[in-house]
Amino acid sequence: MMHVSWNNLIAKDARALTASEIRDLLKVAERPEVISFAGGVPDPKLFPLGELSEVYADLMADDVAGRGALQYSISEGMPALRQWIAADLAKEGAERTIDNILITNGAQQGLDMLARLLLEQGTKLVVEKPSYLGAMQAFSTRHPDYIGVTMDDEGVVLADLEAAFEAGARIAYLAPDFQNPTGLSYSLARRQAVLELAQRYGAVIIEDAAYCKLSYEGEALPSLLALDEAGRQDEDAGTVVQLGTFSKTLVPALRVGWVTAPRPLIEKLVLLKQASDLHVATINQAVALRAVEKTFPGHIDTVRDTYRTKRDAMLRALEDFMPDSVSFTRPKGGMFVWLTLPDGIDSRALLERALEEEKVAFVPGQAFFCDKSGENTCRLSFSAGDPARIREGIERLANLIRRVHNQ
Ligand SMILES: Cc1ncc(COP(=O)(O)O)c(C=O)c1O
Repeated sequence: MMHVSWNNLIAKDARALTASEIRDLLKVAERPEVISFAGGVPDPKLFPLGELSEVYADLMADDVAGRGALQYSISEGMPALRQWIAADLAKEGAERTIDNILITNGAQQGLDMLARLLLEQGTKLVVEKPSYLGAMQAFSTRHPDYIGVTMDDEGVVLADLEAAFEAGARIAYLAPDFQNPTGLSYSLARRQAVLELAQRYGAVIIEDAAYCKLSYEGEALPSLLALDEAGRQDEDAGTVVQLGTFSKTLVPALRVGWVTAPRPLIEKLVLLKQASDLHVATINQAVALRAVEKTFPGHIDTVRDTYRTKRDAMLRALEDFMPDSVSFTRPKGGMFVWLTLPDGIDSRALLERALEEEKVAFVPGQAFFCDKSGENTCRLSFSAGDPARIREGIERLANLIRRVHNQ
C-alpha cells in the first residue's frame, strides 16, 4: 500500500505557509494566572450584547428582512451596507460610490484578495518595518520581494520609500493610523508627502485603516484615501486602495470588512470573491448594518474612552517601572505599545522567561519585520486587560528586564 506523500502534494505556494514558532509559547499566555499583553483582540466587555440581541430578534421577526438575511446575496455586498460605508467615508472627506466598495470577510480577506490580484512571484512590495503580521502572511503566499521601509515618529521614512519606488516597487502596504504593531501614526505632513511620492511614481498604496476610528486624543488626521480624493472628480482614478473593518469598533465575529478601490479593481475583486466564498454571510451584513445604525457614534465613544483609560494605565506603568534603557512608543490610538529593549536582549528568550518567572506575556517583535530584524523589540497590547492588571503586568515585566539586563 502506498502512503500519501503530503509534502509532494502540497502546492509550492501553500508550502510557504509555516506556523509561527511562538504560537506554542503563547498558548501558555491564555492561562488565567498569566497577565497577557500578547492578544491584541478587542475587549469583549465592549461588545454591545443587549443591542445585538435586539437586532437579531427584530431581524428574525421581520418576515421580509429576516428571510432576506438568510438568503444568498450578491458578491459585492449588501447595497445598504455599502451605502452606509460610503456615507461614513464621505464624512471623512473621501467621496466614493457604492460601486467603489466591496464587502469582505473582515479586512483580512481584503488583504488576501489584494495579494491574489496584485502580487506574483518577485513583485516588489513595500511594507513598513515593522508591519502587520497577518498582512505579510497573506502576501507571502504570492512570494513577493519585500522592500522594508523604516519608520520614525512621523511615519514611514520618505528617503526609504523613494528608494523603494526608484528600485521599481509600485505597491506599498501602509498603515498610517495607530499601526499594528507599533501604535505609531503618520503626521499630516508625512501623509501628504507619502501620497505625493506615490502619485509621482504611479504607485498604489494599500492603506490599512483597521484602527483609524480608535483615536484617543487630538484631532483625527485625514486618511491617505481622503487626501488622495481631495480635488479629484473621478472616483475610478486614484492612488489609494483602503481596507476597513467593523472588527475593532463593533465586534470581530461578524467578519464584516471592506475594500474601497477604483471600480476596475473592485470588478476583479468581485470575481475573486465569487470564486472564493460567493459573499459575506448575508445575516452578518444585515446585523452589522442595523447595529451600526443603532449604536454608532455613541458606541465608538465608549470604545474610545475604555481603551484610552487602558492606554493611559500602560503608559503610566511603563514610565513608572521600566528602566531608562527601554524605550517605548506613546500611541495616540489603537491597541498597541511597542518596546525597544537594550541591544543584546532577545525578546524571544525574554518571553520564555517572562512566562516562566513573571507570568507575563507579550509578542516578540521580530515576527513583524519582513527582514526578521528587531530581535530586541516587543509588542504589548493594552486592549484586553483592566487598568490594575495592566499596571501589575508592566511592573512584573520591568522587574524581569532589570534582572536580565544586569546579568
Ligand atoms: C492592521 C490590521 N489589519 C487588518 C486586520 C484584520 O481585521 P479583520 O479581518 O478582523 O477585519 C487586523 C486584525 O487584527 C489588523 O490588526
